[in-house]
Amino acid sequence: MTRYIPQMEPLVTEGDARAVNEYLASGGWLTEFTQTRLFEKSICQYTGARFCSIAPSGTLALFLALKACDIGRDDEVIVPDLTMAATATAVMLAGGKVVFADIDATTLCLDLDRAGNLISERTKAVIFVSLNGRSPQGLGEFVARCRRRGVKVIEDAAQSLGSFEAGRHLGTIGDCGCFSFSSQKIITTGQGGAAVTNDEQIHKKMSLLRDFGRLEGGSDHYLSIGWNLKFTDLQAAIGLSQMSRLAEIVDRKKSLYGLYRECLSGVKGIEIPMTDLTNVTPWFVDVLIDKDLKPPLMKHLHENGVGSRDFYPALHAEPAFATAGTFPVAEAVSGRGLWLPSSLRLEDDEVRRVCHLVLQFFAG
Ligand SMILES: Cc1ncc(COP(=O)(O)O)c(C=O)c1O
Repeated sequence: MTRYIPQMEPLVTEGDARAVNEYLASGGWLTEFTQTRLFEKSICQYTGARFCSIAPSGTLALFLALKACDIGRDDEVIVPDLTMAATATAVMLAGGKVVFADIDATTLCLDLDRAGNLISERTKAVIFVSLNGRSPQGLGEFVARCRRRGVKVIEDAAQSLGSFEAGRHLGTIGDCGCFSFSSQKIITTGQGGAAVTNDEQIHKKMSLLRDFGRLEGGSDHYLSIGWNLKFTDLQAAIGLSQMSRLAEIVDRKKSLYGLYRECLSGVKGIEIPMTDLTNVTPWFVDVLIDKDLKPPLMKHLHENGVGSRDFYPALHAEPAFATAGTFPVAEAVSGRGLWLPSSLRLEDDEVRRVCHLVLQFFAG
């Protein structure tokens, strides 16, 4: 019997299980300690960042980065209108005010010109989200322009482990960069995140903020306000195991995307966003189709044993954010975007089965 192909499911290997069992047998205290420090080191080694602070989730890594960049009450932070809600809610959690900006139709990321025009004296930061590992060529210059105006750039690189821009790993171009290790991400620790930076002062602030404002565990001397944003060594053991096969994961993500592209390109009605597989490690397989055809295509796939997922909504129109303004590109892309099965567990034959169903739908 052919199995139902979910849009996403995590891949946890025997090696990951072995790493956890070995850790459990080692008598560790489960909470963060040496495994977490090693996990941070491996993120630094892979991305080229000087410093890394592991956090309990990508959302809390963003919160940590925002607080370390001194975002406080009513400070404005520019955020793309098309992103996972956590980009915006992290700003709200930090006390800041979200200012949405439209996205660029080619990269599907923040439109840097529009974002630049929205900067005012109230703007403290811009969050650039490298959606699905993509980024525009001018990101480095944009960061430099923002710095000249005293505006911090935080990269939400939650989906971008393994993706680069002009030779630099995404997340290391702005003042801080944040990754997510939730179950669906490039590597996973179940939940988890990381905030990287090359700025020692920002890193020092993060270290205090994530551990009650103290310099070391066990101390009862509080240098600043801080919280418990620590991790567990139990999860770090899985993270380290996954990092050790990241090169393999990156290759497979790229080959899956390439295979979809081979099977679906040239099909009338399907647009595949531009994706440079030398630099981009696609997290999900994304396609753009006529918005009225999306529900029937999703139904057709589901009835034939294949899951798919609708793109994020344009956030300004969601009840949680309800913001006036027009964001035509975000609205159009959100309406047309669909994620096809993207798990590392997929076999090539399964990708072909999905593509066959998509082709069947468009031929019908
Ligand atoms: C772009 C983006 N930002 C932030 C997050 C939040 O990460 P987490 O789920 O680890 O809190 C996600 C996760 O889905 C994401 O995709």
